[in-house]
Amino acid sequence: MPEDDVLLRARERAGQLGCTPVLPGSGAALTVLAAAVSARAVVEIGTGAGVGSLYLLRGMPADGVLTTIDLELEHQRAAKEAFAEEGVKPTRTRTIPGRAIDVLPRLTDGAYDLVFVDADKESYPQYVEQAVRMLRPGGVLAVDNALWHDRVADPARRDETTTIIREVGRVVRSDDRLVSTLLPSGDGLLVAVKR
Ligand SMILES: C[S@@+](CC[C@H](N)C(=O)[O-])C[C@H]1O[C@@H](n2cnc3c(N)ncnc32)[C@H](O)[C@@H]1O
Repeated sequence: MPEDDVLLRARERAGQLGCTPVLPGSGAALTVLAAAVSARAVVEIGTGAGVGSLYLLRGMPADGVLTTIDLELEHQRAAKEAFAEEGVKPTRTRTIPGRAIDVLPRLTDGAYDLVFVDADKESYPQYVEQAVRMLRPGGVLAVDNALWHDRVADPARRDETTTIIREVGRVVRSDDRLVSTLLPSGDGLLVAVKR
């Protein structure tokens, strides 16, 4: 998917900061998902330099608010630059600094239309559990790097990160509260709707 200058500059800042943004294929899917559920209240776990945030905001209605969490203030500063370049009203984004595992329990049950998980992979199981709690019925969970550079599908790969992401896929698929699929776009986007 071709990206415009705002996205390309955000991607460049991400590169300078050493954080890996969502790939264009998954980003486009996020925009569609946000638009499909008319997502007014969205949480992103792992702001980075704001590439994923831009894709989400582009699918959300004009009065939608994106809450995005990251422990690196420098990353959130870069994301704010991207939001300013995009012309996003300040009231549409709430950037929360901190460890996601400390911040998430403060967010309300059943209040969110979409939760996007894209921070430290080791904590994905806890983030998914928190996301299911925070989503309203019909809300969407999206988890990036679900294929983890094609390692998830290779049974010979047994390193810790691959094993955790593989397990998250299994847990989401067998969770009766969710209807799920794995989109093979970008680095794999695990998508689920809360029943
Ligand atoms: C893959 S990058 C996020 C990319 C972003 N979603 C995008 O598409 O542009 C992961 C981010 O998670 C943040 N992060 C890592 N561990 C975290 C934690 N425990 N709590 C909150 N953020 C964390 C990192 O600082 C980094 O900015």
